[in-house]
Amino acid sequence: MYKNVAKLNFPDKFLWGGATAANQIEGAWNVDGKGMTIEDCLPYRNIGVADFTKQFAFDSKELEEAIKSDDELKYPKRHGIDFYHHYKEDIALFAEMGFKVYRMSISWSRIFTNPDDEEPNEKGIKFYEDVFKECRKYGIEPLVTLSHYDPPVALVKKYRGWYSRKTVDLFIKYAQVCFERFGKYVKYWLTFNEVDAMLRHPVTSGGLIEDQFKDVPFEQAIYQAMHHQMIASALAVKLGHKLVPNSKIGCMMTKLLFYPYTCKPEDNMAALLRMRSIYRYVDIQALGKYPRYLIKEIKNKGYHVNMKPEDDKILAEGTVDFISFSYYMSSCMAADTTGLTMSPGNTVNGVKNPYLPASEWGWQTDASGLRYSLIEIYDRYRKPLFIVENGLGAKDELTSDGKIHDKYRMEYLQEHIRAMSDAINVDGVDLIGYTWWGCIDLISESTRQMSKRYGFIYVNLDDQGHGDYRRIKKDSFYYYKKIIASNGNDIGDRKIVCVRMNYSLI
Ligand code: BG6
Repeated sequence: MYKNVAKLNFPDKFLWGGATAANQIEGAWNVDGKGMTIEDCLPYRNIGVADFTKQFAFDSKELEEAIKSDDELKYPKRHGIDFYHHYKEDIALFAEMGFKVYRMSISWSRIFTNPDDEEPNEKGIKFYEDVFKECRKYGIEPLVTLSHYDPPVALVKKYRGWYSRKTVDLFIKYAQVCFERFGKYVKYWLTFNEVDAMLRHPVTSGGLIEDQFKDVPFEQAIYQAMHHQMIASALAVKLGHKLVPNSKIGCMMTKLLFYPYTCKPEDNMAALLRMRSIYRYVDIQALGKYPRYLIKEIKNKGYHVNMKPEDDKILAEGTVDFISFSYYMSSCMAADTTGLTMSPGNTVNGVKNPYLPASEWGWQTDASGLRYSLIEIYDRYRKPLFIVENGLGAKDELTSDGKIHDKYRMEYLQEHIRAMSDAINVDGVDLIGYTWWGCIDLISESTRQMSKRYGFIYVNLDDQGHGDYRRIKKDSFYYYKKIIASNGNDIGDRKIVCVRMNYSLI
């Protein structure tokens, strides 16, 4: 019998489901009045994954080149998995798995072709209305992220993205349209995906291109842009509560986890400081003001962030209802990394942990780290938690029987569900839902590969954009369906063991 710390048990109304983002699935990049986003301009680079910063390196010259180009294969986000034309089929498959919730994002550029436009784009609005109606038809609750890594190009060119305070006003105009037009279908909202990410990849999070900042240190520009996102998030929470009375509006953080590499006090301190830094901005969204350590951090670097007199009040009044986060992997911190092997992760590099297996992309998988994270976040904020991303990117093989036998994904899922159950039943964490990342295969955010597959549903497409877009249920499709049908109680009697997980970089 499979042994848990406590018997598996999930709350009655637990929200089981899956998650995607507009820029990674929709395609139809220039259809029905959609404006161009930064994601439409990032090319596929076949350069491996050891250093994520190379994947996100991007300059104004490349932007201009992309704007002039019609190439859909060079820029994979332009075709995605063509959810724009397959949404009915895809949502039917989600419903077949028994989803209670579907996390997705709205592309700002579909709602306003140009963020400066006076009037929204009705065709873009209709697309999302249709998607929400389709979800509701199956009793699926939409969970909507207003901004998931796709700043409009027009915003980048005219205002230097989130560096400008004007972007806050334009975002609120967009958020207002979303709340007014979609509020009758959508109760759960998130403001910014992985709100801490701008410090790691400023292009996709903030629309900040380094060579456009000759007048100000680039890092200071990032802190300034982050301040604007904090203001925008707080204003959106307040507005959403007013326009959609029963709404629940959350923040979303990248839950990274760094263990001390040894018990040396120096390694513990290095881990503590690194861990603290991942909470910097969620502290503001959850607690309503800048933490003292962030104010010190900015000051000690000699930077200045422009703030308006009313900003303190805005932040205090715009705190979130729940905390959502992504969790994929963990790694270690050491004060001195000389001679240590490093390991890549979700847009971070850390010291490799000798006790953990790793995915084909080197991400060290650690289900116990999910329980650890749940305890840590809950103890810090005492607000309901929602895991809105968790999953395994792996190479899948379409076998001659027309199937995908992805036991490794089932192993990962089983372990992480057990960890969640323990966090709820042993540690007293208030966890309200779980959405598996990339419930249908999609374009990877960091590598823009199709071959880094997360889905329970296979999409027949390769890294070069060739394929017939056929959807095929993987073995994990039936496994997750069984888990949802039993409200998480049936993850199988035996521990799934798959030896495939290995440390080998692709
Ligand atoms: C999260 C992002 O950080 O990780 C997603 O919110 C992303 O957009 C996911 O897809 C997995 O990362 P990757 O790089 O494997 O796509």
